Amino acid sequence: MELKKIMVIGAGQMGSGIAQVVAQAGINVLLQDLTDDFLNRGLSRIRHNLDRQVQKGRMSAGEKEAILHRIELTTDVAAGKDVDMVIEAAVENMEVKKNIFTRLDDITPEHAILATNTSSLPITEIAAVTKRPEKVIGMHFMNPVPVMKLVEIIRGLATSDEVYQAVYDLALKLDKTPVEVNDFPGFVSNRVLMPMINEAIYTVYEGVASPEDVDQVMKLGMNHPMGPLELADFIGLDTCLYIMETLHEGFGDDKYRPCPLLRKYVKAGWLGRKTGRGFYRYD
Ligand code: CAA
Ligand code: NAD
Repeated sequence: MELKKIMVIGAGQMGSGIAQVVAQAGINVLLQDLTDDFLNRGLSRIRHNLDRQVQKGRMSAGEKEAILHRIELTTDVAAGKDVDMVIEAAVENMEVKKNIFTRLDDITPEHAILATNTSSLPITEIAAVTKRPEKVIGMHFMNPVPVMKLVEIIRGLATSDEVYQAVYDLALKLDKTPVEVNDFPGFVSNRVLMPMINEAIYTVYEGVASPEDVDQVMKLGMNHPMGPLELADFIGLDTCLYIMETLHEGFGDDKYRPCPLLRKYVKAGWLGRKTGRGFYRYD
């Protein structure tokens, strides 16, 4: 299955990173978001990353321009009428994703694969709103996309072997390492990572230690590249809360209960780096 043009839905930190690595692999990209402002912010992130590669002598200025040239921006989902695949990276919310997949099913060509970069939501449930559940699949990249090697690939109940193979091959083409994971809430990555982050938030909430000290313990004590609270701010506290809610709802176990302090920060609009404030300030 040849993938000549891929649509990426959402130009946030994940969508822009995915668009970048797809364009770097020589594939044309249609990057879609709700407003021009979101699209331009996503494109400047990509430009910034590529500029750094040029400065470091890893890429020529000509290559950078060719990559940027492969990325087309649009606010109109209907522009996806000629794509071979979609990778959806909008917010981590089932209703939003179901609406997007319903529209994609109407708009995109029959052969197009519909993938989601969801962090935790059931692929089978998203696939069920389409008339092509055999072409719906999870393709879960890690943040920051241009740097992190892992891609979790998650089959829905009806995903075909052909579609799985095409997504597996794409991951290799993007210089990533694919790992197949079953369709369970949070897959493997966030089922393991997010309870640790939530527990770190509980230690702050219960006054066990300050955010700086919790992070220091995990960085110096466990050799993590970022402390869990720094990482939560990096991921986005809204995304962390959505993932914890999916785990809590999906498994029904109290150990997945989102920390009230996480809820409070999200309600305050303190979503981490992307809003300038979370457990830390980013002025
Ligand atoms: N975008 C693109 N490139 C970035 C970047 C970004 N946001 N941040 C850093 N980089 C690049 C840097 O340019 C640098 O590249 P070069 O070596 O080519 O120059 C490289 O990454 C290392 O960066 P730094 O030296 O500045 O900093 P660092 O050594 O501290 O590494 C990091 C930065 C790679 C982000 C590292 O801190 C790290 O690995 N953090 C943990 C990331 C992580 O756990 N990600 C998974 C989150 S969970 C998830 O994604 C799943 C989910 O569903 C929520
Ligand atoms: P983000 O908040 O940075 O970006 C989301 C983007 O989606 C925004 O630009 C927003 O305008 C856009 N959007 C929202 N609704 C839309 C719609 N209906 N149509 C088109 N665009 C829409 O979020 P993010 O961190 O990039 O996360 C995106 C997805 O990737 C989520 O499902 C998240 O769980 C998943 N994910 C996140 C991370 C992470 O570390 N942040 C890692 C892996 C996967």
